Amino acid sequence: MIMQRLRAETSTWHTTLETTPFSIELLSRTMPLSTYVGQLIAYRIILDALEAVLARSADPTVTAVWQPDLAKVPLLDQDLEFFDTLPVGSMPTPAIRAAQRFATAINRHAATDPVSSLGFLYVMEGSTMGAMQLTAHIRAAFGLTQDHGVAYYSCGDRQRWTAFAHRMNDAVVDEPRQQQVLTAANNAYQAIAETLAALAQPDRSDHPAGNSGTVEI
Ligand code: HEM
Repeated sequence: MIMQRLRAETSTWHTTLETTPFSIELLSRTMPLSTYVGQLIAYRIILDALEAVLARSADPTVTAVWQPDLAKVPLLDQDLEFFDTLPVGSMPTPAIRAAQRFATAINRHAATDPVSSLGFLYVMEGSTMGAMQLTAHIRAAFGLTQDHGVAYYSCGDRQRWTAFAHRMNDAVVDEPRQQQVLTAANNAYQAIAETLAALAQPDRSDHPAGNSGTVEI
């Protein structure tokens, strides 16, 4: 089943991202607020492209999986609106560029191999499951109360995830489609890794991100 394969065949990426400097800063509550807000801005760029592609797709495999309850842009907007009122510093431009490269790839794949968008979606939706465990660290690090500033991070929902997994397993059955989705998921992890690396190292902002270690997806 595709969901089992996705977990198994991307697990190395997940381990890498759990131990990346961005995640270490987050878990140790030492992350600057500008890095956290920078991630929300970068994810908004990515999810704006992805959700638009998924919502307008006519591909039957995609329409069998996508549902409007998976949309996260409104939650990111809610958080960004909250932080707008705070002096959060400037967004490191390499992270914006990394997010934009991913958004461009999402749009390009939508035209040529629409099923790929489901691999991108798997990574972004799955990340909200782990993010639930991180919300307490974010609240503590920045002194946040209630849902202020953590609407996106706290949006993980086991029922929504289980329903998504069932739709994926029912829709993505044949080997060529499974392979497309697996490749896209690995590419999504790579793109997120680049984005988070750029966020955690703002001192590199004078150097264009991706001259080394960037893979065209
Ligand atoms: C400190 C960093 C992270 C931690 C501690 C973490 C933790 C977790 C945990 C505990 C789960 C299982 C959730 C559950 O099923 O209840 C999970 C799932 C997942 N996470 Fe993360 N995560 C982190 C970062 C990320 C990042 C950056 C991404 C990619 C954007 C990501 C993508 C995923 C995906 C796709 C799943 C679903 C795996 C599956 O069941 O197929 N995670 N994460």
